[in-house]
Amino acid sequence: MLIDTTAINQQRNHFDDDADIWVFGYGSLIWKADFTYLERRSAYITGWERRFWQGSHDHRGTPQAPGRVVTLTPVKGALCHGMAYRITRDVLAPLDHREKNGYLRELTPMHFADGSQAQGLVYMATEDNPAFLGPAPLEAMAHQIACAEGPSGPNRDYLLNLASALRDLEVEDTHIFALEERLQRL
Ligand code: SIN
Repeated sequence: MLIDTTAINQQRNHFDDDADIWVFGYGSLIWKADFTYLERRSAYITGWERRFWQGSHDHRGTPQAPGRVVTLTPVKGALCHGMAYRITRDVLAPLDHREKNGYLRELTPMHFADGSQAQGLVYMATEDNPAFLGPAPLEAMAHQIACAEGPSGPNRDYLLNLASALRDLEVEDTHIFALEERLQRL
């Protein structure tokens, strides 16, 4: 279902007005940084794994034929690698708009390669949001991704670009690479 979390996210103010904000990206925010940022660093968060369980009715699909995009699911001891961006507060508005189909701003500690840490935001779509699709067999998810297309382009490009970006970061992600392999076999 198509929803809009923009107004809720604007209330989720976790930082001082004049502070720069770190945002952690684990999906399209890794490979499609079409916003202004002050700094970009690879990073990871703990306790979460990436999954193609969120419906996309506005970017990579339509309300009639939703695509699938990634969200995070809690897994004890897991690491999720991605890209962190240091942004000014005004960049949150376009990010809220981009992530409006079910994602909420959450606070997370993020870890950098040099051992340092920062507190930042991550856009997360939990299983109680109306656009959540949840798990399905890999074959079925690959088929849905192969067929879906929305205003931002084919759903398959989202998966292929994410897999390629993770390879560039030398990140091993069995869920993403297994899905990529199924998609390419179709
Ligand atoms: C993210 O990339 O961090 C959120 C999900 C997405 O926009 O693909």
